[in-house]
Amino acid sequence: MSCPFHRPDGATRRGLLAAMGLAGAAGLARAAPLPSDRPPLTKTDALPADRTLPFFGAHQNGIATPIQAHTYFAAFDVVTDKRADVSALMQRWTEAADKLARGVEVGADADPGDSGETAGLPPSRLTLTFGFGPTLFSRDGQDRFGIGVHRPAALIDLPRFVGDQLVPARTGGDLSVQACGDDPMATMHAVRQLMRLAYGVATVRWVQTGFIPGFAAKATPRNLMGFKDGSFNVLTSDPVAMDRHVWVGDEGGAWMRGGSFAVVRPIRIALEHWDRMKLSFQEQTVGRRKDSGALIGAAQEFGPLNLDANDSDGNPVVAENAHVRLGAPQNNDGAQILRRAYSYDNGISMTAERWPPWHQGMELDAGLLFICYQRDPRRGFVKIFDRMSKFDMLNQFVTHVGGGLFACPGGVQAGRYLGQALFEA
Ligand code: HEM
Repeated sequence: MSCPFHRPDGATRRGLLAAMGLAGAAGLARAAPLPSDRPPLTKTDALPADRTLPFFGAHQNGIATPIQAHTYFAAFDVVTDKRADVSALMQRWTEAADKLARGVEVGADADPGDSGETAGLPPSRLTLTFGFGPTLFSRDGQDRFGIGVHRPAALIDLPRFVGDQLVPARTGGDLSVQACGDDPMATMHAVRQLMRLAYGVATVRWVQTGFIPGFAAKATPRNLMGFKDGSFNVLTSDPVAMDRHVWVGDEGGAWMRGGSFAVVRPIRIALEHWDRMKLSFQEQTVGRRKDSGALIGAAQEFGPLNLDANDSDGNPVVAENAHVRLGAPQNNDGAQILRRAYSYDNGISMTAERWPPWHQGMELDAGLLFICYQRDPRRGFVKIFDRMSKFDMLNQFVTHVGGGLFACPGGVQAGRYLGQALFEA
C-alpha cells in the first residue's frame, strides 16, 4: 500500500497526525492520490484538523466531502408566514456559514455576538449542508411563501414504509442543516449560531448528533453493529456516477441544479438483542464478513458483488434476505444512493429504576443516523428501501424512529445567498 497513512495495525488518523505533526501530514496527504478502485468518501482523508472547506462553490459541501468524524443534524420549523423573513434568514445563514467554515466568529460586531466556545479552535473541516423540506412548499395544503410552484417533483412526501415508527418530534422540518466536522464543539457551535440567527423566524424541531470511529486512511469505518459500513457506495471521485446518482440536473428547476436530495433517518438498533446473536447469524444478516467486510464467499472487501454463488446444497451463499443483497444495484434496477451515515448514542432511554431486574429489552437509545444523498429519492431511497423494509433480516434489530426528506440546493456562489434562485424566482 503506497499511502503513507495506511497502517495495518489500524492506528487511528488522530494518532497518526499527532505522531507526524500536522504540517507534515498536510504535505503527505496532497502527495497521495486516492486509489481509483476504492470509494474515497468512506475514508477520512488524512487532512489536518485546521483544513478549511470553503462554503462557497459549485456544490454544497458535506455531500461528496470525505466524511468527517462528527455530525450535528438539525431540522427547523419556520414560524413566520412572510417570504421576506425566510429569504432574510437565508442571507444571514449564508454569511454565517461562510464564516463558520473559515473558523471566523459569527457576529463579532454585535452584542450579544458569537457564543465563543470555539475561540482558538481550528475550522475542523466544518461543512454546513442546508436543505428545504416538503412543508416549506406546502403545509396543510397552504403555500405559505408562494413558492409551491417551484417544488421539485422529486421532493415527495415520503411514503410510510413497513415497520416505520416515526415519532413526530423527530420527524420532518421546513429547513435542515447537516453540520459535519472533525470536532464536536465545532459542529454544535455552528448549529447554535444558526439557531440564534433564526430567532423569531424558525425554531428547532429536532436534532441528532452522530459520530464515526477514528480509522486508518483508506479503511472503512464500522457502525455500532461492529460491521464495516460504506464498503460499497457511489464513487465520489467518478463524475459520471455522481451526475447519474447524486447531483440534480435540469429537472429540478434552476435553484436545484447541482444540488441533491437528502434522506435522513435516525434508526434505532436493538443493540442488546444484536449482541446476543452468534457471529455466523450476524454475518448472514448483513451478507458480509464482520472482520474483513468481504461479501460472504469473497476474499476481499472491495470488488464486484457476486450474489449468484450457491453452496453445495444449492442454497445462495449470500442469503436471499441479507441486507447487502436487498441493497445491491443489480436488484434495484441499478439504483444507487450516496450513503453518509453516522452512529448515534443518546444514552439510555429509561432509567434503571423503571426496568424490572429481569428486563431483557432495549435500553440504549442508540443506532445509526442514516443519511443518504441522491438525484431523485423516488429512484433512490424509496426504490431500495421499499423492498428492504419488507424483507431485510436486519429489520429484526432496527427501527426507523424519525427523519425527513430535504431538497439541498446547488452550491452558493460568493455574493449570492442560499436558495436565492428559489426565493427570488
Ligand atoms: C441501522 C440501519 C442500517 C445498518 C446498521 C446498515 C449497515 C450496512 C452494512 C454493514 C452494509 C455493508 C457494507 C457496505 O456495503 O457498505 C450496508 C450496505 C448497504 N446498505 Fe445499509 N444499513 C442500514 C440501513 C440501511 C438503509 C435504511 C438503507 C436504505 C436504502 C441501506 C442501504 C444500503 C445499501 C444500498 C448498501 C450497499 C449494498 C451493496 O453492497 O450493494 N442501509 N449497510
